[in-house]
Amino acid sequence: MNGNAQSVRDYTYALAALAGQAPLSLNVVYCPPAPYLAVASHMLPQNTRLQLGGQTCHAEPAGAFTGEISAPMLADSGARYVILGHSERRAMGESDDAVAAKAAAALATKMVPVLCVGESLASYQQKTTLATLDQQLTLLAPFVAAGALIAYEPIWAIGSGLTPTLEEIGAVHQHIKSVLGSETSVLYGGSVNAKNAKEILGLPEVSGALIGGASLEVASMHSIIRAALGA
Ligand code: PGA
Repeated sequence: MNGNAQSVRDYTYALAALAGQAPLSLNVVYCPPAPYLAVASHMLPQNTRLQLGGQTCHAEPAGAFTGEISAPMLADSGARYVILGHSERRAMGESDDAVAAKAAAALATKMVPVLCVGESLASYQQKTTLATLDQQLTLLAPFVAAGALIAYEPIWAIGSGLTPTLEEIGAVHQHIKSVLGSETSVLYGGSVNAKNAKEILGLPEVSGALIGGASLEVASMHSIIRAALGA
């Protein structure tokens, strides 16, 4: 929940230029707040490499759900991806079942769901990370088979400046791929920044990054995209 129409315009313009320099193997997706999706979409140059996404959606395509945004509405506004099950949404009461229903809605609209999973600090400290993830992944497996991406985001790492060790990130990603299939794209999220992006994206198990705070500045996105290219 950051930015305004002018900053979204400026950011989209700058990020589209950066994305345009990236090789085809790198997808750059910008997920602005929903009211600005159309603003960003109108800014996109023709044949741009930059794609847009939403930050959540409702499970129903339409209806009496005041204030909600459906998957078709996101797609209509230019989104090709949608982040689902972010820990900040889960903290507002979004259950595993709700995330699954939203994933089905996104796929029905031909958007790519980015399904967030991750353990709490308590789970990390009790070394129950994999069990926590297994519970979240069980319901999500069919959507991954249908094209969804997974974002592994330890809740305690989001916005905290803390990250698991590289060994831990690699091991968890390996585990997720062993559960969902070796071809699964697993992004890492949680305090990725211009400094640590190169080593995190350099891990062979890591397919990409979901970037929060560091994405707010074009300069740090520039560094992160360069790190992704070098990885
Ligand atoms: P962060 O956020 O990069 O600021 O830790 C990640 C996220 O919100 O998913």
